[in-house]
Amino acid sequence: MSSAGSAPSHNSPEKWSALFSGMLSPEAVIRTGEPLARRTTMRVGGPADVYVEPASEADLAQVLRICGEHDIPWLVLGRGSNVLFRDGGYAGVVISLSQSAFARIEVAAPEINCGAGARLKDVAYQAKAAGLSGFEFMEGIPGTVGGGLRMNAGAMGGAMFDLVSLVRLMGPDGQVRGCLPAQMKVEYRRCATLKDHVAISTVLRGEPAAREEIEQRMDAFNRKRWGSQPALPSAGCMFKNPRDVSAGKLIDELGLKGTRVGGAVVSLKHGNFIVNEGNATAQDVCRLIELIRERALVERGVELDPEVEIVGRE
Ligand code: EPU
Repeated sequence: MSSAGSAPSHNSPEKWSALFSGMLSPEAVIRTGEPLARRTTMRVGGPADVYVEPASEADLAQVLRICGEHDIPWLVLGRGSNVLFRDGGYAGVVISLSQSAFARIEVAAPEINCGAGARLKDVAYQAKAAGLSGFEFMEGIPGTVGGGLRMNAGAMGGAMFDLVSLVRLMGPDGQVRGCLPAQMKVEYRRCATLKDHVAISTVLRGEPAAREEIEQRMDAFNRKRWGSQPALPSAGCMFKNPRDVSAGKLIDELGLKGTRVGGAVVSLKHGNFIVNEGNATAQDVCRLIELIRERALVERGVELDPEVEIVGRE
């Protein structure tokens, strides 16, 4: 076994990658220079210095411990719908919980035990099949359970933590513990506890309901979404809604729909979406974000706070 003391300098992606190879199971995926644009819904941004798919909780614990010992920045990437990597890529380790060890969805009505890597859409469909209501809003969110918890993702009046009865999370030391929602820092579109802890799985509690009723609600949400939100690549809503106004309405009122920087455009359909017309760079998107924030502040005195996490090198 290697130890921190035996190798003083582990400061390059190749060295990080070698450290992981020595400590993780053979099923783990470890790559350097992994392109990230295709792993985000906005489809922009540079590569990850190192990309890891742990094959088990033990692998994940090793990754976090190694990162801690060597001061290597890390983040967990779900389906990439709420993160924007800058064009210079991510100087650290991007962890994906996409292997099957993290993807289970087990229904024990009225609860569903979900792995962090499970897709929200799949959870919504399993809930419907089991006659459990409360999960309908998840159907249209292109995210994973872990990402949904981290962001306290929501839509159509529902949000993730409305359903949570327990989260199993791993600390930077690799230890796993169960946490009640009351023990976690949760707010609108953010769970600060999951900034330095990784959600492994969660128990979500629904309400028994007739399947037709659930189906109708899901259909109505679906129609509303397709009617009001763009289909082009985007990161969903770009800004959190300020206290008294919808960010989309505000941006619309400012006449900013259609405003363009390079390949990034404020959607004509919904003002709070920036869409990638195909050739946008992360810099285009960031410039457009700044332009919108500036106009909202100068003309309306409103500070728009990005909902999307912007990370990586310029
Ligand atoms: N509106 C406009 N112009 C626009 C956009 C919206 O006038 O360009 C008006 C709408 O007509 C409506 C109001 O603003 O009267 C609110 O719009 P909408 O119903 O679309 O809701 P939202 O507040 O913009 C929120 C969530 C969405 C979620 C929808 C549907 C946030 C930041 N956004 O949007 O979540 O899908 O409700 O429930 O909380 C996301 O978080 O990524 C996201 C897309």
